[in-house]
Amino acid sequence: MFFDTTIHCYDDARRIAKRRLPWMVFDYIDGTAGTGDGARRNRDAIQSIQLQPRVLNNVENRTMGAKLFDAPTGLPFGIAPMGMCNLTAPTADRLLAGLAAKHKIPVGVSTVSSTSLEDMFRLSDGNAWFQLYISRSMETAERLIARAKAVGYETLVLTVDVPEVGRRPRELRRGFKMPFRIGPRQFIDFACHPGWALPQLIKGKPEMANFGGTFGEFDREESRAGADWDLLAKIREGWTGNLVLKGVLSDLDALKAQKLGVDAVQVSSHGSRQLDSAPPAIHALSAIRQAVGPDFPLFYDSGIRSGEDIVKAYAKGADFVFAGRPFSFAIAAGGATGLRQMSDVLAQEVSITLAQLGLRKLDEITSSVFA
Ligand SMILES: Cc1cc2nc3c(=O)[nH]c(=O)nc-3n(C[C@H](O)[C@H](O)[C@H](O)COP(=O)(O)O)c2cc1C
Repeated sequence: MFFDTTIHCYDDARRIAKRRLPWMVFDYIDGTAGTGDGARRNRDAIQSIQLQPRVLNNVENRTMGAKLFDAPTGLPFGIAPMGMCNLTAPTADRLLAGLAAKHKIPVGVSTVSSTSLEDMFRLSDGNAWFQLYISRSMETAERLIARAKAVGYETLVLTVDVPEVGRRPRELRRGFKMPFRIGPRQFIDFACHPGWALPQLIKGKPEMANFGGTFGEFDREESRAGADWDLLAKIREGWTGNLVLKGVLSDLDALKAQKLGVDAVQVSSHGSRQLDSAPPAIHALSAIRQAVGPDFPLFYDSGIRSGEDIVKAYAKGADFVFAGRPFSFAIAAGGATGLRQMSDVLAQEVSITLAQLGLRKLDEITSSVFA
């Protein structure tokens, strides 16, 4: 129906979000590195995986829960860290934290989150994971880690696939900047999207809430190229909680991280926002699982658009799966209702996929599901 704003699948969320968001914000979220071929290749790779239906297995009682660092989760997916989520709607961070609290799933809190890491921990009922970028100043990183520790974070996610921010032509064309600046182009863009602009006007423009005051401003363009394995070792030494290394696509890097004592590796191409020519992250997942062995915790994100995709990532060796854009677009499309619908869609799709494969729970997913 023409005016139906219900989210029945990821494409619904993206389509409605595209209509509602300013062009600049839509392109910031949807955009990729370079030509976008890398993103397409990863999607093609995920879509080309075929699953083998099985019948008459009595799959009446199915469960959706997974295990993350030995703690049970209510759903088989989590929310990947995304900077400046409140650009979609002033309530976005709050809604994501609420979803995490309700289902006991992790919500990644970006270094450049638009709600402070302290508030996100509280709003998510302790289900938040703090994501750290290391820029030139290790001192800022140490202070952020200390804040995360003080508030009670158990999991630190170190993102290492942004030595320099990737060139994303769609962002550049729109003049997207962090901190966020409103020039004449943006003004016209926002005026053409009053449904988005009015609530933002009332609440004030989204800020990088972990910065300001003694922390100074976060400079998004600042190089993060100085990070190395010694730095990881240092962070490992100082952080006694769970340490996740996010943004790994090479089996050699995953092995190094495993040896250095990280608790998990997150296989990710940053949603294809960094290296256009990177191999499909879903292929890297299989190779890395082979390299690190069956028991080492591996997480996956990048290009997950449906419950079938989630099952495929588990079958390729993931112990847990994250998505980013589906949740942002869902909030832009329908606020709290949109987010609930998107999360329900993914959960139902996982459940129905398990039933089609003759399985009852995530633990039963193995490579035998491939057709
Ligand atoms: C708008 C946006 C902002 C992001 N910001 C961050 C960030 O601050 N830190 C980070 O580690 N990853 C960031 N990511 C990458 C996500 O954590 C994740 O790797 C990616 O979104 C997964 O791909 P998907 O969006 O296709 O699900 C961002 C992604 C998007 C779309």
